[in-house]
Amino acid sequence: VALQTLSVNGKTYPVSDKTNVTSSILNLTDRAVYLKPSHPVGILRSVIEDKLNDPHHSFEIYNDFKPAVTVHENFDSLGFPEDHPGRSKSDTYYLNDCHLLRTHTSAHELECFKNINGFVPGHVGKTDKPGFLISADVYRRDEIDRTHYPVFHQMEGGRVWKREPDNQHLLKIKEDLERLEKTLADDPVKLVVEDNVSLEGNPKQEYMTMEEVDLCSRHLKRSLELVVLEVFKRKLASMGNVKGEELKVRWIQAYFPWTAPSWEIEVFWQNNWLELCGCGLIREDVLLKAGYEQNQNIGWAFGLGLDRIAMLLFEIPDIRLFWTLDERFHSQFKEGTINKFKPYSKYPGTIRDVAFWLPTDKNFDIIHENDLMEIVRNVAGDLVECVKLIDSFTHPKTGRKSLCYRINYQSMDRNVTNEEVNELQDKVRDTLVKLYGVELR
Ligand code: PHE
Repeated sequence: VALQTLSVNGKTYPVSDKTNVTSSILNLTDRAVYLKPSHPVGILRSVIEDKLNDPHHSFEIYNDFKPAVTVHENFDSLGFPEDHPGRSKSDTYYLNDCHLLRTHTSAHELECFKNINGFVPGHVGKTDKPGFLISADVYRRDEIDRTHYPVFHQMEGGRVWKREPDNQHLLKIKEDLERLEKTLADDPVKLVVEDNVSLEGNPKQEYMTMEEVDLCSRHLKRSLELVVLEVFKRKLASMGNVKGEELKVRWIQAYFPWTAPSWEIEVFWQNNWLELCGCGLIREDVLLKAGYEQNQNIGWAFGLGLDRIAMLLFEIPDIRLFWTLDERFHSQFKEGTINKFKPYSKYPGTIRDVAFWLPTDKNFDIIHENDLMEIVRNVAGDLVECVKLIDSFTHPKTGRKSLCYRINYQSMDRNVTNEEVNELQDKVRDTLVKLYGVELR
């Protein structure tokens, strides 16, 4: 039976042709695991909030924005072009034509900029703090493996300054920047920073002066370096080594429709460069849309992924553990402490392959890989560890295409019986036929 409406966090939305969100995803919208003080993601979130707010409390903290937002908030307000791939139904969960589950915390930037008192003429803002931090669950259709889950967490940061007569605002930025630089320099763990990014191909906005760009980007970069240092220093300490330790980070060029210039910061950890955070100087367009006066304000924004960092800090082998209700997981963590996760047991996995011919019939959609992932998630939930394509070929005579996917069924918390797996696998196969008209092999 097709539903006419669906409900998210107590609000009702009419469905449309665009609807592709499933009940297993909607069930996660009320969990708010990032708010739990002794959940790894919650612990990491507070460590970062505290660090950025020390000692000035310049950032207003927003931690309960709900995940259903408008297409306008998630994409249009930030200048995403109409044909941006992020907008497609294969990547994003739509509730209907104009509502979706946010794909990033940037969806709330505009509202938070608006809330800052003294920036929108004639409007009393909700806060006097010139910055904000937003933590929230975000949703993306994606592959299935140990590091990918359709829900993960981000922290968004934003900071603005009003231009003042005689460039007083520059003095204020400079002063704060000096504090950041000193904190970095005084730390027993030395941060080694590589930054060869120029403004070539990553241009500044015309309305900003060179000096503003320089100070504002240094303020942004040093703020994020401080966060990275704080987090990884705690990890090094928990591993027993702090003295004389070095931590390498690098800045690379990036592109986001709502920042210019834009960067990404990466940390060198266990022989890999790990991507941590996208950021940049906020485009004036966003500020104008928030109601700010033209030519009067400058600022920055960043968006930090929390789950990958939490997995690494707490040595969590599978992202599904963040969603388990098992006390053997939750009892291992406590507020403010970074410790290594001890696996309570490794339950065996069961491998099943599904092979099928794609439909040639025009009445059926051609299946996107994420659609298959979604079917498996919906049928098996957290009993699926990973799904991967193991074979693909096109018949030389008929031109028909055949795919074979390997599914590993495995629970984090218990044994799964063969009968259970067979039942799940049958459901996956049936659904593929019903929804996409594939011919099973
Ligand atoms: N929202 C971006 C992402 O999800 C990160 C970002 C936030 C980049 C703010 C720039 C400014 O990748």
